[in-house]
Amino acid sequence: MIIEIPGELERFGANIIYELQRVMLLDSGLRKKSPEKESISLPYYNISYEESYAIEEKMAIVVPVRDVPLKLIEGVLFAVPHHCEVIVVSNSSKEPADRFIMEKKLVDNIRKTTGRPITIVYQKDKKIARALKEANYTEILDKKGIIKDGKGEGMVLAMALAKISGKKYIGFIDADNYFPGSVHEYIKEYAAGFSISESRFSMIRISWYNKPEISRNNLFFTKQGRSSVVTNKFLNKLISYYTGFETEIIRTGNAGEHALSTDLAMVLGYSSGYSIETYHYISLMEKFGGLEKVPEKRVMNDFIEIFQVNSRNPHFHQKKGKNHINNMIKDSLKVMYHSHVCPDPLKKEIIQELTSRNALKKEEKLEKGIYYPPLSKLNYKAFEKNLPEELITTLKS
Ligand code: GDP
Ligand code: CO
Repeated sequence: MIIEIPGELERFGANIIYELQRVMLLDSGLRKKSPEKESISLPYYNISYEESYAIEEKMAIVVPVRDVPLKLIEGVLFAVPHHCEVIVVSNSSKEPADRFIMEKKLVDNIRKTTGRPITIVYQKDKKIARALKEANYTEILDKKGIIKDGKGEGMVLAMALAKISGKKYIGFIDADNYFPGSVHEYIKEYAAGFSISESRFSMIRISWYNKPEISRNNLFFTKQGRSSVVTNKFLNKLISYYTGFETEIIRTGNAGEHALSTDLAMVLGYSSGYSIETYHYISLMEKFGGLEKVPEKRVMNDFIEIFQVNSRNPHFHQKKGKNHINNMIKDSLKVMYHSHVCPDPLKKEIIQELTSRNALKKEEKLEKGIYYPPLSKLNYKAFEKNLPEELITTLKS
């Protein structure tokens, strides 16, 4: 892959956020045929097939699922390179039809026919919940002792499982994607990002090239998602508040498609449901922004790299209504509003934005969301000891 070298960046304490990088060539061939990876005269990186492969081999691809048609899940799973491990976390309904059983059948069949490493877990599995309890990571459990609903909750579980599998990188891919080709591309971009990263704490976030919508009986290609526009605007305002310079650096506030090094996954804080992607940025600023006392000296002495890649394929997923978008905006802005890094003037603007969208009633308080501690808190020995043996075997295969 040939990818632009980012010209601009923003520093926020130990965080380095790079500007959006364009992909110039999706496949740049084998090493021996490619020009040098880093060339002073050329404004791009060239990542050879071998380099990409070496990273993909160390990557777990997590697919969070909740009631997504099987045909879509199948297309997504078939698009993941065979040398990546796959972890499907499903919170699909069991009634009236047992969707999870159908998904498990699909996954077992893929493992049998392709021989690829692939695991599926049920978010509401009692044994997994018990293993988390034994591992002292109880925050994610509800009153009945079962993992709570939510995309973020499924992702946190998957990251703990990826750690057990020994993978160095974790990439997320939404299950409701109609274009398997785009899934394949996102994974290549994760690998490219990790390949150019110089830190062991890195994150790659995808901003898709465009999204097809139907408008006046014609196809119209939008540039940014409906919730991303708002989330990005506020994240950029937050950075500007501290630097004193207006910025548009953040383009991936709600990036469902993102990947992070397992080392980074262990130190970040997490939040519930759809707010988790926005909270990545907030947690990075809270912990490593240099604004408060530092919980992770180790990381502050290092640095964190956040890459944003502009993919070439269009993004086409299940269309959700205005309510879903408004809820997503509310959840995203909520984690910003309740952060100690959010200044009062911005808090005011957040409330104005939400009331103007009817996402918040006049005089209504913006309630605090739910947060989860870093995964470094989890006792992995106890977790592994209490997980079903069959699961450990497929995870480590
Ligand atoms: P959007 O694409 O950001 O608008 O949100 P989606 O509703 O498409 O959700 C993104 C992905 O997360 C999809 O693959 C969903 O099936 C999945 N998802 C949503 N809620 C949950 C959940 O509670 N648990 C799990 N494991 N996955 C979920
Ligand atoms: Co979606």
